Amino acid sequence: MKRLFLFVAICLLVVNLFAQDICISTPGTSLVLSAPIGGDLTHVYYGNKLTDAEVRVIAQIEPNNRSAYPVYGLGGFGERALSVKHADGNMTLQMTVTGVKSNKEGNANITIIEMKDKVYPFYVNICYKAYQDVDIIETWTEISHQEKKPVVLEQFASAYLPIRRGDVWLSHLYGSWANEGRLAQEPLAPGMKIIKNKDGVRNSHTAHAEVMFSLDGKPQENTGSVIGAALCYSGNYKLRIDTDDTDYHHFFAGINEDNSSYSLAKGEVFRTPELALTYSKEGLSGGSRNFHKWGRTYKLAHGNTLRKILLNSWEGVYFDINEEGMNQMMNDIASMGGELFVMDDGWFGDKYPRNVDNSSLGDWVVDKRKLPNGVAGLVKDAEKHGIKFGIWIEPEMANTTSELFEKHPEWALKAPQRDHVLGRGGTQVVLDLANPEVQDFIFDIVDNLMTDNPEIDYIKWDANMSITNHGSNYLPKDKQSHLFIEFHRGFEKVCQRIRAKYPDLTIQACASGGGRANYGVLPYFDEFWVSDNTDALQRVYMQWGTSYFFPAIATASHISATPNHQTFRTIPLKYRIDVAMSGRLGMEIQPKNMTEEEIILCKNAIAEYKTIRPVVQLGDIYRLLSPYDKLGVASMMYVSPEKEKAVFYWWKMEHFCDQHLPRVKMAGLSPAKQYIVRELNRIDNSPLKFEGKIFSGEYLMSNGLEIPYTHTVDYHKLNDYSSRVLYLEEVK
Ligand code: GLA
Repeated sequence: MKRLFLFVAICLLVVNLFAQDICISTPGTSLVLSAPIGGDLTHVYYGNKLTDAEVRVIAQIEPNNRSAYPVYGLGGFGERALSVKHADGNMTLQMTVTGVKSNKEGNANITIIEMKDKVYPFYVNICYKAYQDVDIIETWTEISHQEKKPVVLEQFASAYLPIRRGDVWLSHLYGSWANEGRLAQEPLAPGMKIIKNKDGVRNSHTAHAEVMFSLDGKPQENTGSVIGAALCYSGNYKLRIDTDDTDYHHFFAGINEDNSSYSLAKGEVFRTPELALTYSKEGLSGGSRNFHKWGRTYKLAHGNTLRKILLNSWEGVYFDINEEGMNQMMNDIASMGGELFVMDDGWFGDKYPRNVDNSSLGDWVVDKRKLPNGVAGLVKDAEKHGIKFGIWIEPEMANTTSELFEKHPEWALKAPQRDHVLGRGGTQVVLDLANPEVQDFIFDIVDNLMTDNPEIDYIKWDANMSITNHGSNYLPKDKQSHLFIEFHRGFEKVCQRIRAKYPDLTIQACASGGGRANYGVLPYFDEFWVSDNTDALQRVYMQWGTSYFFPAIATASHISATPNHQTFRTIPLKYRIDVAMSGRLGMEIQPKNMTEEEIILCKNAIAEYKTIRPVVQLGDIYRLLSPYDKLGVASMMYVSPEKEKAVFYWWKMEHFCDQHLPRVKMAGLSPAKQYIVRELNRIDNSPLKFEGKIFSGEYLMSNGLEIPYTHTVDYHKLNDYSSRVLYLEEVK
């Protein structure tokens, strides 16, 4: 008996010696893994921050049989993160831990768990980057081998996470052109949920590569535990949530492997895109705040620099570009207090002028018939008006009617033996970004523009076509399945070169509207165009969804004309302003068609926005009442980090007589602080009852303020819309 006891004790000691529990932490979260050398890497815990003592206990009591990165071939039949075919035909992997490395990178701790197959010289590093000032852990893998011949990667997720079953709900975004960023929320049920994109270019149309899991039942904005995940990739992706016969939902995220099997050469390292994970106890809005802080600090270009208020020419003049018209628009936005003018599509093309959407992409030379003094002339005009100048390009594309296509038809993606499947205007094609010559060409578009006109402050980078022709003239025959991946590698290389040379340039990611709202592109871009749909009512839904993952500073939101050009809905200017002011404010309108009264309203709104801009663009979001709940009103707010300022938005979503709308309680304020309330963009004849009054944060968060359902305006100005923006400032 005594001997047996001694034997067990020695065994335990040995196990302990080799067992390595790894705790990866951020200020408020912990991820615990078990990584015994020579053993399996298993997932133990992800959630609220643990103490060292808790980590030790939890590592002993939590189930220890959930692989942290399941591979295919041996044991079990569930979904897998990685599946390969070795050159000898073997379809299996068996990975064991060979080492754990850690280091520091800026404000983050990096942990790399090295694994090797038991038999084959096949290696996977599971990498974690844990930020020490925001609650985000990025995770990705590095896959390589030293086998004699290439190994084919069939499935290659960035990460896997088991999520304990219970009453778990998924929140995710879907939509398409003119209806991007729509929120869908559903309980996770048995079976497989797949969220994916296969566009090839624009990966946030159809669906988004970010999700949130509400762990405590039906999603709540400001309470309950939430896990959020955002795949930082600009190309095709697939998120899988498999709910099988175990206690877990199995969540996988990575590049979409469909039509993309990858032949990995000896010594080559395949790095999967990062999956950013967050955990919050403060509901969905808490998850969003974590993503926004990380996004601003570490992901998007110039994430902590306030954005300029701009006028974009598109909905104002469309392709009707000329010097006089541009000058007039610049003058108008400058006199309203704007800071930047962006000339959209229609300014280029020599042999083929760009008058409609069926020609000239690729010919990035100024159309001198429209702009005799070139871009330089416009830049000078902008300077004269005291504003900055920006310009539209769509550099990854060409039209078959273009000098570029005549010279380099081989640069367009096309399947051998097949005719082109053409895009916009019946003539658009996508350039082969896998080809380094094409990469140079695209870099030169920006470089030439900037060299000739160093004053250009802003570029709107558009992309209006999917990869509808699977074929690259550049890639060898046996690597055609690399096309989607190589396209995005090429895109990223170009972006890196542009950013290295032009670090201060502001660049907007537009892709037929909101087709490129993702954290794969944002490191190179300052913002994205949420949607070509500028209808304020529909924007409430789209911007609400978008705010789950992306901060207001990146969310371009413009005041446009009425009736709206996409929905033909007539919405009063006050409402259009109040919605646009909840994002990165801009205008997309012909100012010369506005009345004097409208100009004054916009001028005033721009001045007010300048006051609240730091709170909106750098503050913390608290969503209060969702438009998707159909309660007749939607409401949200931003609070400054020190909680001494806040902006509250209230948008009525529908109008009926005898309505009984909920009174909205505020959130995120300091209970003890006293706030003075002031209405912005006021159109009412008399101020609100609480105008200029002082309330404690406690009162505002427990009771909210009674917002009148309609505006007190003259009879002929009454309409069915109603909205309010309140500015709260601490009174000491
Ligand atoms: C796309 C963009 C629009 C506009 C046009 C120009 O549709 O989303 O904002 O720039 O292209 O052709």
